[in-house]
Amino acid sequence: MATLIVNGQSYSVDHNQKLLPFLRDVLYLTSVKNGCSEGACGTCMVLIDGKAAKACVQQTDKLEGKSIITVEGLTPRERDVYAYAFASCGAVQCGFCTPGMVISAKALLDVNGSPTRAEVKEALKNNICRCTGYKKIEEAVLLAAEILRDNLPVPSGELPGLLGESIKRIEAAEKTLGAALYADDLYLDGMLLGSAVRSAYPRARVLSIDTSEAKKVPGVAAVFTADDVPGDKKIGHLVQDYDVMIPVGAVTHFLGDAVALVVAESTEALEAGKAVVKVEYEPLTPIFSADEARKDGAERVHAERDNLLSYQFVKRGDADTVIRQSAHVVTNHYSVPFTEHAFLEPECAVAQPEGDGVRIFSGDQGVYQTQKECAHMLGLPLEKVRVSAMMVGGGFGGKEDMSVQHHASLAAFLLKRPVKVKFSRAESILIHPKRHAMEMEFTTACDETGRLTAMRARLIADSGAYASLGGPVLQRACTHAAGPYNYQNIDIEGYAYYTNNPPGGAFRGFGVPQSCFATECNLNQLAELVGLTPFEFRMLNAIRPGQVLPNGQIADETTALVETLEAVRPILERNPKAGIACAMKNSGLGVGVPDFGRCRIEVLDGKAHLHSSAACIGQGMGTVQTQFVKEITGLPLEQIVYHAPDTALAPNSGNTTASRQTLFTGEATVRAAKLLKAALEQAGGLEALEGQSFYGEYEGKTDAMGSDKPNPVSHIAYGYATQVVELDDEGKICRVTAAHDVGTAVNPIALEGQIEGGVVMSLGYALTEDFPLDNGRPTRKFGTLGLFKSSNTPEVVSIVLGKSSKDGLACGAKGVGEICSIPTAPAVQLAYYNRDGIFRTKLPLSDTPYSKK
Ligand code: FES
Ligand code: FES
Repeated sequence: MATLIVNGQSYSVDHNQKLLPFLRDVLYLTSVKNGCSEGACGTCMVLIDGKAAKACVQQTDKLEGKSIITVEGLTPRERDVYAYAFASCGAVQCGFCTPGMVISAKALLDVNGSPTRAEVKEALKNNICRCTGYKKIEEAVLLAAEILRDNLPVPSGELPGLLGESIKRIEAAEKTLGAALYADDLYLDGMLLGSAVRSAYPRARVLSIDTSEAKKVPGVAAVFTADDVPGDKKIGHLVQDYDVMIPVGAVTHFLGDAVALVVAESTEALEAGKAVVKVEYEPLTPIFSADEARKDGAERVHAERDNLLSYQFVKRGDADTVIRQSAHVVTNHYSVPFTEHAFLEPECAVAQPEGDGVRIFSGDQGVYQTQKECAHMLGLPLEKVRVSAMMVGGGFGGKEDMSVQHHASLAAFLLKRPVKVKFSRAESILIHPKRHAMEMEFTTACDETGRLTAMRARLIADSGAYASLGGPVLQRACTHAAGPYNYQNIDIEGYAYYTNNPPGGAFRGFGVPQSCFATECNLNQLAELVGLTPFEFRMLNAIRPGQVLPNGQIADETTALVETLEAVRPILERNPKAGIACAMKNSGLGVGVPDFGRCRIEVLDGKAHLHSSAACIGQGMGTVQTQFVKEITGLPLEQIVYHAPDTALAPNSGNTTASRQTLFTGEATVRAAKLLKAALEQAGGLEALEGQSFYGEYEGKTDAMGSDKPNPVSHIAYGYATQVVELDDEGKICRVTAAHDVGTAVNPIALEGQIEGGVVMSLGYALTEDFPLDNGRPTRKFGTLGLFKSSNTPEVVSIVLGKSSKDGLACGAKGVGEICSIPTAPAVQLAYYNRDGIFRTKLPLSDTPYSKK
């Protein structure tokens, strides 16, 4: 029992509990986010008697008489200042970390009105941001300090919103102030909570499931098993191999498999019910590596499937002969680990009955994908399952697969009541698909002048328990393995195997961070053999417009790899020991896969309402679409209204994946906007178009893998990049410069934010992040994953360039969401090689000041 003063109001807490659930579930102060409940992320930061503290570790009984402030309790002036500062500095992406950042900023600024940047970094060191790379958040705090200290007015007004203008992200203010709703912020009347009982073994036969005791627990509404699934008992993004729940008699595939689903009135009842579900298993020998999975006679992870999930190859020319005849040849074996996305928002979905179907509120990467998988599982036609997007607190590829949506919709459908299913952080780390661990052997050859001649690569990926997107990820690793260079003899083969580890799937870069690491490191050894610098070697071989990429595609006139190299030339001249690496990344699914962008603009109440299913997972899709409409129609921003994806309202624009939405949905938006513009010119104004709709669709046509065309179009567009990493005297990274070919820059500050965040994420990949498994169980928690914090993040300088024409697709814009994360690790590897002469072939890199002792 305690009395707390929360945002100036007194509340009695009748039993001791953690402060976080009290603030969220009792007072509905949803600016206080639950990112981990482990004291490791900072999303739950509140002020307690003026000091920043994590609400998830505070017990209410210890807070008697204390004053607690959340973002909802800021003064109107503070709200205005922080909303303006964070929005105008581009400090908000997914926004899940943002209210916590504001609280830490306020704790600092209340006692130090003129902080240095170092002091800001220190103040934010307990708040993790996985999206922004911290730079723009620090700038926002410094700007807020200035406005508050000097009592300046908060500037009003906005730029017109044309292409190339850094307008504020349309949802930045509501995210900053905690008003933006994520799935976990929904509290529907009569809502139940659901959670799955997970397998006790990575591989075991389920002999029996006894739910009788669990059903007797007071507050437990139901316990479901696979027998209760009315439709398909297996779902899956591309391959239907993912068990909704493991039925009696079947074999589990990893520790994240659901065996039963408990639904209850409260968290306490839910946990009590889960604890007494009795499952009998016959443990079987698990397979924990691709090497074991591919052995002759290996047990099958899926009884009905071979362990080889996917085989991919890209072959052109005669690589083996050319390699034998080349002046210089290097071969290395590279190992890269699984990597966890560590988005700040754990997976959550709420479902409620709607008519004789269900409606799902979900934070995912594609509402139509969720609709398809859940409808099949429920045995319902698609239109009976409506999916409405909530804010997405980061995805990075990790929210492409079903995680909680199917269970929430199943329980809501069967019980005819709203149900929320939310992962704990431990479940999130265990269950959603990871970046693949890979073993890679790469041979690369060049002539005596340093011109690349050929390469041979073999990649073996651990794809874990389920297919997820393991096949396409492996394919992209292979199609990009030769890098953005002008040579044509390649022999690349990749193999992905099922194992009993957590699944591998999509993660920013989609296989390319792995193969790029190997390719770029090999190039540096060749450069040394030839006597060129790594910069000179890349400049000599860089793909130029009109030349043929290793996969046979002719590089188009927008290709600006050389320009990204030129942009960093002065750094290499000043600091020849800096590490450098290049990369290319496709925009769009490519390789002949049907790929559509779609958009509908509806005129209602004198405004243009924008509908598409393109998920905004923090990259700012709504703002990008708004700027396209502004650019084409000239309508004022106030008359353009963006709507979050909803299968009942928006056309299917595919998943947010493959850096595709800016190009595909962007072009569809441009097409719809052109129709609107033509109608506007005829009608004279929006009022005259009331009720009319304008539909834009774009299909990107590409050639399939193995096409016999001499120069197949593998992808609609490629972005290119060069990154440079500099070390200080102590061997710490002091600066990363990232030059990116983005085509036409739609919103430069948003692009910078993507680049800065992508670079910092991949500094983790290079130096600190790992995902060790012990008998298939991750041994790291959120706090020990090795994520970079504000206090150890170096300066990141982004250079945004491009030479696209505004007449091109999507006004010449290319995706940047993934490529910013691709060349960082090999650039870091080279920087350390230049410092100590150790050629490291394994990530995270060993023997650096960042290495765990
Ligand atoms: S939710 Fe409290 S620190 Fe993560
Ligand atoms: S904006 Fe910080 S975690 Fe997404």
